[in-house]
Amino acid sequence: MAILDFGSCNVDVVFTVEHINAPGETQTALAFARYPGGKGLNQAIALQRAGADAWIAGCVGEDDPFLRKLLRDEGVNCDCLCAVSGPTGQAIIQVDSKGENSIVAFPGANFRVTREQILTTLQQFGKQGRWVILQNEISNLPYIVAQAKELGLRVMLNPSPYNDVMKEIDLEMVDVLILNQVEACQLFGTDSEDFLKRMERDYPNTRVMLTLGSRGCIYMEQGKRMYQDAYRVNAVDTTGAGDTFTGYFAALMDRGEPMERVLKVASAAAALSVTRSGAAVSIPKLDEVLAWMEDLPG
Ligand code: RIB
Repeated sequence: MAILDFGSCNVDVVFTVEHINAPGETQTALAFARYPGGKGLNQAIALQRAGADAWIAGCVGEDDPFLRKLLRDEGVNCDCLCAVSGPTGQAIIQVDSKGENSIVAFPGANFRVTREQILTTLQQFGKQGRWVILQNEISNLPYIVAQAKELGLRVMLNPSPYNDVMKEIDLEMVDVLILNQVEACQLFGTDSEDFLKRMERDYPNTRVMLTLGSRGCIYMEQGKRMYQDAYRVNAVDTTGAGDTFTGYFAALMDRGEPMERVLKVASAAAALSVTRSGAAVSIPKLDEVLAWMEDLPG
């Protein structure tokens, strides 16, 4: 079945630097590149490369230099991607010598998503699929969650970047909450363990997919937890690793693969993505991920 990613599309302007700038500091970048990005676009491409029938909805500017073409070339359905006046979303990204990043994003067209577009999109998609994947980089996010539930669709929410919009969303309406440990702490102001206990107590029907960076990930459903270690790789650029994980997780889960395998393959895909520069362009295809896993020692 088709999977809809309703999310952001950005042009990522990436500076490779020795270290992430301190306040007031100026440094000379070692390299510069312009890549396709945005959490919505990255996740849609990860879905498609994991073998799903991906749809994307959202907005790009009429100036869109290459994002729609890239999505189409990948095979992502762009029927619900609107062109609006004003600039396409932009992100300025510093990537340091350890592959860590620092991102500032300007929403541009991503904040032009209207309620009308949301209703039309969800009604159109509802005939093709059941899962809607969301992040927090577009306008009217709480409305999308509410309308998706109203139409009987399933919601996977990645509360990234975390901000006050999240307080407007009832987590009861979220079928799968997929987030990292920083976002987990921002959500409830506690550590990862307290976050999981609170989710189990207050939102027992919301499945949780918590990623812990180099410490792996934890999946929790009805209080039962499953752990997966992270694969060790030499990190070049961690940008988009979470999006790669999310797309793979959703694609394999929707196909009904056993959860143990879903976690393994999604973790391997995310690990491979950090060995390359860029966000969307670093996402591996499924056969490459499976071949890499087979070649691993032990
Ligand atoms: O998750 C990575 C993405 O976050 C980047 O591609 C950037 O555009 C920001 O949206």
